[in-house]
Amino acid sequence: MEKQRTAILTLDDGRSLELPILSGSLGPDVVDMRGLSKLGMFTYDPAFMATASCTSGITFIDGDKGLLYYRGYPIEQLAEKSDFLEVCYLLLNGELPNAQQKADFSYKVTMHTMVHDQLARFYNGFRRDAHPMAVMVGVVGALSAFYHDSLDINNPEHRETSALRLIAKVPNIAAMAYKYNTGYPFMFPQNKFGYVENFMYMMFGTPCEEYVPNPVLVRALERIFILHADHEQNASTSTVRLAGSSGANPFACVASGIAALWGPAHGGANEAALKMLEEIGDASRVKEYVAGVKDKKYRLMGFGHRVYKNMDPRASVMRQTCYEVLKELKLENNKLFELALELERTALSDPYFVERKLYPNVDFYSGIVLRALGIPTNMFTVIFALARTIGWVSQWNEMVGDAEQKIGRPRQLYRGAAKRDFVPLDRR
Ligand code: ACO
Repeated sequence: MEKQRTAILTLDDGRSLELPILSGSLGPDVVDMRGLSKLGMFTYDPAFMATASCTSGITFIDGDKGLLYYRGYPIEQLAEKSDFLEVCYLLLNGELPNAQQKADFSYKVTMHTMVHDQLARFYNGFRRDAHPMAVMVGVVGALSAFYHDSLDINNPEHRETSALRLIAKVPNIAAMAYKYNTGYPFMFPQNKFGYVENFMYMMFGTPCEEYVPNPVLVRALERIFILHADHEQNASTSTVRLAGSSGANPFACVASGIAALWGPAHGGANEAALKMLEEIGDASRVKEYVAGVKDKKYRLMGFGHRVYKNMDPRASVMRQTCYEVLKELKLENNKLFELALELERTALSDPYFVERKLYPNVDFYSGIVLRALGIPTNMFTVIFALARTIGWVSQWNEMVGDAEQKIGRPRQLYRGAAKRDFVPLDRR
């Protein structure tokens, strides 16, 4: 048997501690810090820059090489050869489905797409101009009030049913948020459509006309869903895990993930990136805009990543998808796309970006595709949430099924006031 590798921590007071070094199947080794409490100390690692918060077998990223695998399969292969429901099955169950498993899974998802009629009434409580992400946080969380029969998190069958409900209903809830915003009637899901077609139908269909999906555009949206399906322990996924570690139900946990995703440093970046391109307006202004970035007046949205210090592999697929969609829609001379390409070229040849290893991330090009598909800007992050739901549910399911699972509870470095006695109001 191989000898357990260890790291020795020696303190300046002479005490020392031997800590095990753990290896994963891929990626860097980690020092198991759990024994540190023997010294009455904690690690200090704000923003978890150097902390693995869990073990997981779902997604692997090598940020230096620009690699992303779902259950071992490279994202480029899945984006080209797979479909979204198959990827959902893979993330949730660990293996690609065979033909029968795929058909069963697809059938089960299809049978869960309708939402409780009472849920539709929630929408009336929102202002018409509510941001659809605000609606998503509320309505997805509210699912917990409707599906009591699948809330026993210790029962694997309940967990599976909740997962299917989330995968199936979130597109409907998202499309309803859009319809409510625009004043059009909600569209019931249609079982004749595939998952992505159905979402497009619920978004763009009306009761007045037959909706005929364009396969090139369906495929582009499917690719966006696949690319966003999971991304290991990012801010929203970690939020879902932390919420779930207390035993909260999956609908509430996914709602917390949606809230975390909303911010512009995370899922809100695709909306921010497109707004930035519109603000720049013309390729001739790129140099001036980049100068402002370097002066730290603002950030280049859709650029940079906590883990990728190389090209985000999803950005390359997205750039290619941009070409395909714009060609299909005869928008080859799309100004925003040309501007984005020019911005990428300028940034990647500038020492500021090169030295900091700032490359385009998935959000840099996804906004252009979503815009071309007719998805309004305020729905961009909703699309991300829709796609990421499977990742959140898979990660939550993995955590709940882990025998070592405990409530998540970080500690702190306290720098507040030392103990002091209360001062009555008339003496303050
Ligand atoms: N534009 C300009 N400068 C940047 C950018 C950017 N987009 N991102 C990082 N930097 C600079 C920082 O100013 C800092 O420079 P300094 O060393 O001179 O202080 C350096 O690069 C390191 O930046 P950090 O903020 O420490 O990097 P961190 O890993 O914390 O941030 C993040 C990652 C939040 C994604 C950041 O790159 C960013 O804000 N990007 C824009 C928003 C975005 O596109 N988010 C989407 C992320 S992907 C996703 O959620 C799907």
